[in-house]
Amino acid sequence: MRRDVRGRVILITGASRGIGRRVAVRLAQQGAILAVTARSETDLATLTRDLRDIGTEAEAFPGDLTHADDRQRIVAGTLARFGRLDGLINCAGVCSFGEFSTSREEIVRKVLEVNFFAAADMIRLATPHLTRSYETATDGWKPAIVNVASICGRWGIPSLSEHCASKHALVGLTEALRGEFERFGIDVLLVLPGLVRSDDLQKHLLRNEGKIYLNFAGAQPPDEVAAAVVRSLVKNRVEQAVGFVSWWVWFGKRMFPRVVRFFMQRKVWKFARRERAQP
Ligand SMILES: NC(=O)c1ccc[n+]([C@@H]2O[C@H](COP(=O)([O-])OP(=O)(O)OC[C@H]3O[C@@H](n4cnc5c(N)ncnc54)[C@H](OP(=O)(O)O)[C@@H]3O)[C@@H](O)[C@H]2O)c1
Repeated sequence: MRRDVRGRVILITGASRGIGRRVAVRLAQQGAILAVTARSETDLATLTRDLRDIGTEAEAFPGDLTHADDRQRIVAGTLARFGRLDGLINCAGVCSFGEFSTSREEIVRKVLEVNFFAAADMIRLATPHLTRSYETATDGWKPAIVNVASICGRWGIPSLSEHCASKHALVGLTEALRGEFERFGIDVLLVLPGLVRSDDLQKHLLRNEGKIYLNFAGAQPPDEVAAAVVRSLVKNRVEQAVGFVSWWVWFGKRMFPRVVRFFMQRKVWKFARRERAQP
């Protein structure tokens, strides 16, 4: 199956920067009509200008996805402006890097609020409109929801515990809805990036106290992940692990989970031993 996104209205969360912004640009280049959202009004204004310059219709709906009113306003605004909704890409996310034993309740809640509850509610709000998109299509169009989770949603990675919990929840929801939404004609797709070199990634971490070495400089370029998100939508890829490391963790978990666990634990032992050796 191949989706032609030309003239289709796609709502993208987390579009102000990073992966979401690049997904918007790529979809605009393919002729999609875009509703974009995030909290930063100025970044969204620049983005919509860029999208219109590419030659497509675009509208920004700034809002905080952790607020129920904002979520409703974003979906209602999209409907009022474009008259329909043909696809939803849940890309907004936050991350916390550090050991769980020294984390705080508000961090756990914040990560779950943005990465899971907000995405889940956006799906709930979008579902009747996506169903209508399927029912009224005369050209075989199948609407889709693309959830940008993380390989942390398939494997618990030390020092990213809150992130892993939120993404596991999103992965579970995605899998359940994939079956449930079949009767509405909506495909529910999953993208699992590894470590991505997004714009000022470290600046936006809720907490940056992890001791395990993460090679941010050598991480995947966000454009590669954006390309995978668009590919997932266009080619209807049910689940896609993006990048070399992500793919190996994904594959390793299925084929030889003990080996992957051994290497992860060895990494933790190494830093714990180093820490103990320091005066
Ligand atoms: N970067 C990585 O290493 C990595 C790895 C695996 C998975 N991912 C996932 O990929 C997705 C995109 O990540 P990214 O690297 O592009 O991150 P990013 O550059 O930090 O972008 C995050 C986006 O989410 C928006 N956002 C955050 N909190 C929000 C809130 N409360 N309400 C509305 N919007 C909010 C931000 O916009 P505002 O700040 O303007 O609101 C921004 O547009 C996330 O779901 C992330 O978990 C990232």
